[in-house]
Amino acid sequence: MMREMFSDCGILWRMLCGQPRAGTHRERLEAFYRPQAQAYDRFRERLLHGRREMIALLAPPSGSRVVELGGGTGRNLEYFGARISSFAAVELVDLCPALLEQARLRCWRWSNVNVICADATTWRPRAPVDCVYLSYALTMIPDWRAAMANALAMLKPGGTLAVVDFYVAAADPPPGLARHSAPARWLWPRWFAHDGVHLNSAHLPYLMQRTEKIQLHEAHAPLPFLPGLRVPYYIYVGRKPAR
Ligand SMILES: C[S@@+](CC[C@H](N)C(=O)[O-])C[C@H]1O[C@@H](n2cnc3c(N)ncnc32)[C@H](O)[C@@H]1O
Repeated sequence: MMREMFSDCGILWRMLCGQPRAGTHRERLEAFYRPQAQAYDRFRERLLHGRREMIALLAPPSGSRVVELGGGTGRNLEYFGARISSFAAVELVDLCPALLEQARLRCWRWSNVNVICADATTWRPRAPVDCVYLSYALTMIPDWRAAMANALAMLKPGGTLAVVDFYVAAADPPPGLARHSAPARWLWPRWFAHDGVHLNSAHLPYLMQRTEKIQLHEAHAPLPFLPGLRVPYYIYVGRKPAR
């Protein structure tokens, strides 16, 4: 109990310090995550909601080739359960060596999983894949349009692209999408930017424009140690058009 409280305090301290401003994107990720890498998963269970649900919605069939961009410690792979061994290949791509060390400790037991240190905006698999997903990574990738274009380019026509992430709605969102209050639209982007997480009202409309929607869930989730506050997040699952 004391150990867990101590570990939570360490993570909160890192988050209060924020992501360093100097260095390359990779260096800033490493400086931010290295001191919290071992405690990352425990704390994020209470912060990053909807990950299990997104993986459940994906349901890639046996023999699929699956890619997680910005996969961090590989925690999400466990949500596939025993199905993971039925996939032809799973590639976990991330730019932060400290989190990938945790991913390697986790993934050695699956012979079909590769852990790759690379930039999600440029890395490509050897052959087109069936399913690409990002979990709370799109908001941390400065050139998010390049990451999305890259994800779509590596997918087979008809393949699945899924994202779960924090967001805020535009002031006047497209019909059918959730509205967020002006204070929420002001607060959350500023709150998360300190840690290099950039909430963007353009992410969801972009996904809806570039793919055929299969599922969309818009919701609010609690934050650890901040009773009463709830941050908006979405789960989107789309299909790359066949043409
Ligand atoms: C909030 S973490 C989420 C990690 C994991 N997907 C999860 O659900 O726990 C965001 C991840 O995006 C990674 N990331 C940020 N920019 C990246 C980039 N350009 N290429 C690859 N990974 C990136 C970070 O290193 C970090 O692991």
